[in-house]
Amino acid sequence: LQQTEEVEVFSTPSYACQRRTTLDNHNAVLTDALSLLAENAELSGEDGRGVAFRRAAAALKALPLPVTRLTQLGGVPCLGGHSLRVIKDVLESGASPEVEALRRSERFKALKVLTGIFGVGVKTAGRWIGEGILTLRQLRDSGPTLNRAQRAGLRHYDDLNRPVGRAEAAAVAAVVEAAAGSVLPGARVTLIGGFRRGKQTGHDVDFLITHPEEGREAGLMPKLVSWLDSQGFLLYQKTNSNSYLEAAEGPARPASNMDRFERCFSVFKLPEEAGRGGAGAGGEGGPRPWRAVRVDLVVSPVSQFAFALLGWTGSKLFERELRRWAGHEMNMCLSSHALYDHRQSRYLRASSEEEIFAHLGLEYIPPSERNA
Ligand code: GTP
Ligand code: MN
Ligand code: MN
Repeated sequence: LQQTEEVEVFSTPSYACQRRTTLDNHNAVLTDALSLLAENAELSGEDGRGVAFRRAAAALKALPLPVTRLTQLGGVPCLGGHSLRVIKDVLESGASPEVEALRRSERFKALKVLTGIFGVGVKTAGRWIGEGILTLRQLRDSGPTLNRAQRAGLRHYDDLNRPVGRAEAAAVAAVVEAAAGSVLPGARVTLIGGFRRGKQTGHDVDFLITHPEEGREAGLMPKLVSWLDSQGFLLYQKTNSNSYLEAAEGPARPASNMDRFERCFSVFKLPEEAGRGGAGAGGEGGPRPWRAVRVDLVVSPVSQFAFALLGWTGSKLFERELRRWAGHEMNMCLSSHALYDHRQSRYLRASSEEEIFAHLGLEYIPPSERNA
């Protein structure tokens, strides 16, 4: 038998926003390893390293076939020495010793558990670990002062760490639509985030709300929230008001990545219906009548809707790469509100995502292919 093995050499563009990345990942073992290193870097406050690992993982997610040899990766961007070493280990022995050690590390496990509490960030988790708090039990026993978000996060820990399914997302959507329709007839509710990209599960459900008549959406969030609250749908909410003013941003102060929309981080009390999402909800006490679900609401004026839609559909890395492309390759500044062209010293209008990609000189990538 003659061994003439054809090994494809992969090549892919360097920005994630130039690539089509579906949920069909042929290199999950490799990307899981790199994503874990990214997560660890982010949990350790090393954001730069985190982005490097995220970019490496994203480059592999875009490949059409499983990688079997390192020599196939000559044309794949964003693979630094560290990432290549991990890839080599996984290809040769099925696992990376560094990644396996990380999975077992007490500090990493503690960071995951503690930041898994809604409202607890990297700094707080790091401080608690420094005080010897590594588990939820130790946290409950030692009783550090918790803010309102963290108390809700701890109370609903199990629910909020159970993935939200599509049927549950649809049930939340029905509630949000009823709320919006009731407080502002004609308001439009759009599912954004991971579910818009076609994911089957998410850590939360994200919605963008607008009204076809500019200005009618102003002040909508407080009304929406009080309707939801009065109907018993909210376990927790924190609302931020809109602070975006185009004139104030101006060319001199380009819109930052932090967006200024009316925004609400919430925890919904979602009634459990027969035949939906009940798996895992049972347990000792039999099926519960409701579960807690994280929900993000964003309100945008219709004039900014396309930018908000593009900016909130994700993935996070895809968004980051779009902004990097805009800045480095186009001399433009992209935010969830607007696109500013520094060469022409003016804002570029758009009423669809397609127009924004065109302004950026990019081929249009639909949401289902933004899973970088
Ligand atoms: P899962 O919820 O884990 O399924 O994934 P997801 O992609 O939906 O992530 P998430 O809900 O965290 O965020 C959804 C999108 O909103 C992502 O593209 C983020 O980049 C974007 N996003 C989240 N927070 C902010 C923010 O404060 N400002 C802006 N502009 N975008 C944000
Ligand atoms: Mn989400
Ligand atoms: Mn979200």
